[in-house]
Parts: sequence; structure tokens; C-alpha cells
Amino acid sequence: MRWWHLDDVHALERDLFATDAWSLEQFWSELAQPSRRYVVALVDGRVVGYAGTSCLPPDADVQTVGVAVDQRGRGTARAMLEDLLADVDARGVTHTLLEVRDGNDAALALYARLGFVEISRRPRYYADGVDALIMRRARPATAGRA
Ligand SMILES: CC(C)(COP(=O)(O)OP(=O)(O)OC[C@H]1O[C@@H](n2cnc3c(N)ncnc32)[C@H](O)[C@@H]1OP(=O)(O)O)[C@@H](O)C(=O)NCCC(=O)NCCS
Repeated sequence: MRWWHLDDVHALERDLFATDAWSLEQFWSELAQPSRRYVVALVDGRVVGYAGTSCLPPDADVQTVGVAVDQRGRGTARAMLEDLLADVDARGVTHTLLEVRDGNDAALALYARLGFVEISRRPRYYADGVDALIMRRARPATAGRA
């Protein structure tokens, strides 16, 4: 993800996360931080997905992931996260964490597919009273070393 993608990324963000979308300034701030890495998925030049990580070895976090509704089920989110996870693995991260709304079945299945397991729950974490699930992925034994 580069600065010239940000208007499109932010428009997609507002479509996907209506109530708690990040502001454009938050995306600028994320891109400015050396610990962050963000990617976009493009189809014919159109931004159809984005994802990002924060990496401070030995830990990393998945900051966000989203794919346009008309592009789902094609492996786009998995491809973006596999790319980001390979990068944090190579930087010596041992565990990657994320939080996800309970009941977000597509995201939960995606994260399970990538090796994340639920480790705890924060009751009524979100403003609408939904729990947050904390998931963690251990660095695979086969991952390359930094
Ligand atoms: C979650 C999301 C990013 C998935 O994007 P996607 O590109 O459709 O996902 P993929 O096609 O890469 O799916 C990868 C895996 O996730 C799982 N998965 C994805 N969507 C699923 C669904 N609707 N139901 C069940 N499993 C699903 C599958 O196990 C799939 O495995 P496979 O590759 O073996 O088929 C997308 O639904 C989205 O943008 N949702 C709204 C934003 C959001 O909730 N983001 C997560 C915030 S924590």
C-alpha cells in the first residue's frame, strides 16, 4: 500500500466497517510507522482489498483486513495475510495476535485457516456489546529465520 492508494482504501474501509471505520488520517499515520506493513489487492487497477500488520519482534499484530463484497471467496484475504505473515515470520516474530468480533464467521474461518487459535475473550468489548475474541498464531517451525 502506498499513499496514492489511500483514498480508495478509505472508501472501501467505510463500506466494510460502517460504524467504526478508520479515518483517512489513521491510514496515513499507519503508513508512516516503520513497524507497519500494509498491502493492497488490485484488480485492473482497482483496490479490492487491503491488509496490514504491526511488527515489533517477538510479537506482531494483524491490524486489519478487508475485501470488497464483490471480490470475496477468491482467496484474496488469504493471499494478503499469507504475504504479511511470511514477512513477520522472517523478522523473527514468534507470535502474531489479532482481535475479531465474535460472530464474524468469515473472518474467524479465514484466521483459523491461517493457523490462528482463540486464546481469550473480552466480554462486551465493542460499543454494541459484542465480545472480542483474541486469536494467536505461533510462528511455524518451518519459517525462515531473519
Ligand atoms: C473476512 C474477509 C476479509 C475474507 O475475505 P475473502 O477474500 O473473501 O477471504 P478468502 O477468499 O481469502 O478466504 C480464505 C479462507 O477464509 C475462509 N472464509 C472466507 N470467507 C468465508 C465465509 N464467508 N464463510 C466461511 N469461510 C470463509 C475460508 O476458510 C477460506 O478458506 P479457503 O481459502 O480454503 O477457501 C471478508 O469477508 C471481509 O472483508 N469481511 C468484512 C471485513 C472484516 O470483517 N474483516 C475482518 C475484521 S477482524
